[in-house]
Amino acid sequence: MRKYQDFYFKKAKKDNYPARSVYKLEEAQQKYKFLKKGQRIIDFGCHPGSWSLYAASIAGEKGTVVGVDLQATDIPTQKPNAEIHWLCYDVYADDLPALLKKQWPGFHVVLSDMAPRTTGSQYADHQHSLRLVRRVLELAQELLHENGTMYCKVFQGEDFPALVEECKPYFKTIKVVKPKSSRQESREVFILGRNFIPVRKHI
Ligand SMILES: C[S@@+](CC[C@H](N)C(=O)[O-])C[C@H]1O[C@@H](n2cnc3c(N)ncnc32)[C@H](O)[C@@H]1O
Repeated sequence: MRKYQDFYFKKAKKDNYPARSVYKLEEAQQKYKFLKKGQRIIDFGCHPGSWSLYAASIAGEKGTVVGVDLQATDIPTQKPNAEIHWLCYDVYADDLPALLKKQWPGFHVVLSDMAPRTTGSQYADHQHSLRLVRRVLELAQELLHENGTMYCKVFQGEDFPALVEECKPYFKTIKVVKPKSSRQESREVFILGRNFIPVRKHI
């Protein structure tokens, strides 16, 4: 297993990414191709910056990436990739949607690799992870364009099937993705929601 981890760690170093987690996005992108040139992409839990850097390389010079994290990130934009705006913010902050909407007229893709701080209790960690996904869904309702995409990490546990059901009304299709670069013994999976249906269309 260590050998397996080392492979992605070394690959990230060689490819100039600050974290091996980039391959959990790259694998999904290679299969489902939801990131496209010219898009505005928001990346919740962006630190230390790998997903944002990768998304910026796909979005290209006409695209925009906004990375949000509790921890400050500051990596210069690498031309001709999309410009990256780093925000040091808590996703639970009440003023976050207004702050984002003031600067950008919505996003084509919402990414989240957010992970709660582990507590030692598997149940508590699972519940905190579900709460983060619910917050991403709430933010998607404010920020995501019709037919947009969400790719969001979650730690599985007993309430995971119910969470997947909660996501279903918001997207035409929902898939649960387990990339090869995510350790097999880890409870982490990613929910891929495609073709976002804005709230006003639920009723
Ligand atoms: C696994 S790391 C993300 C790695 C990143 N995707 C990359 O490729 O470099 C998870 C991040 O989620 C962030 N996070 C957790 N809770 C958050 C919150 N409430 N608001 C913003 N960021 C949060 C953590 O600070 C941490 O940096």
